[in-house]
Amino acid sequence: MMIAIGCDHAAVELKNAILAHLEERGIPFADLGMEGDYPVMAEAVCRKITSGEASCGILLCGTGIGMSMAANKIRGIRAAACSDGYSARYTRLHNDANVLCMGARVIGSGLALELTDIFLDTPFEGGRHQRRVDLIKALEN
Ligand code: RB5
Repeated sequence: MMIAIGCDHAAVELKNAILAHLEERGIPFADLGMEGDYPVMAEAVCRKITSGEASCGILLCGTGIGMSMAANKIRGIRAAACSDGYSARYTRLHNDANVLCMGARVIGSGLALELTDIFLDTPFEGGRHQRRVDLIKALEN
């Protein structure tokens, strides 16, 4: 597992907290730093995933929403802006999300670390959800 992670100016502290947490857990990551224009960072992180260099990504901005909007423009990316554990869990189980977006102005770092763990530790359920993920992919054409 290799995580690509990046943020904009609104989420530098939160990114540092997540990096320390990943380090503590021994999870390898590529820190792409901070970019004030969040779509630019969203693209940089997502390209690491679509190229196969990273297995998934974490994108942080003020709300998590701008990052998720930008990331979801990229073929092969399924990004979810989450601020609760249920969504973080089910976006892995049912949507096979490959990017977790969070808002540093929406949630605190304690919850963000919890959502990170849920997202990274929950596998895709497959089965009937594979067909639906395939339908999402078909929308890219
Ligand atoms: C930056 O001020 C803010 O717009 C950005 O961090 C993010 O919340 C956008 O969705």
